[in-house]
Amino acid sequence: YERTFIAVKPDGVHRRLVGEIIRRFEKKGFHLVGMKLVQPSEPLLKEHYWGLRQKPFFSGLIEYMRSGPVVAMVWQGLDVVKMARRMLGETDPADSLPGTIRGDFCMEVGRNVIHGSDSVKMAQREISLWFNPDELICWENSSQPWRYQ
Ligand code: GTP
Ligand code: MG
Repeated sequence: YERTFIAVKPDGVHRRLVGEIIRRFEKKGFHLVGMKLVQPSEPLLKEHYWGLRQKPFFSGLIEYMRSGPVVAMVWQGLDVVKMARRMLGETDPADSLPGTIRGDFCMEVGRNVIHGSDSVKMAQREISLWFNPDELICWENSSQPWRYQ
């Protein structure tokens, strides 16, 4: 199955939303294959947000992401990249529907609690940027027959 990179941003960690966020992914049925608490370095973040380097909010974004620990995760499942993005909501919490993570837990685009890869290709790039291969665990998904036909 497909994999995506999800990160609870520093505001989400400080606001004790980690458990709630993991709970949503678990209940949906996705399979956790990697997870760690990290204090991301500036070079890592600049690489991660390379595509946004020209944006006026870039330095603020890097500062925000460095302001505390991040919970980095890899989740696996059917269409997980697209489905996780739907669970997150829109980039701007103001446009995010209730029921989504950003719709339920935050107000501003610069404090939007969570990151999710926006394509399968970006997911592969982000997973290899944030995780060593030996940090990704293959373990039996015993509930799989009850989630997939
Ligand atoms: P991520 O899942 O975090 O990548 O969000 P996204 O894919 O919905 O948005 P995008 O990749 O375009 O932007 C990455 C992050 O930059 C966003 O999640 C915001 O935290 C931040 N960001 C994007 N647009 C703005 C903006 O207009 N102002 C500010 N202050 N931050 C922004
Ligand atoms: Mg993005």
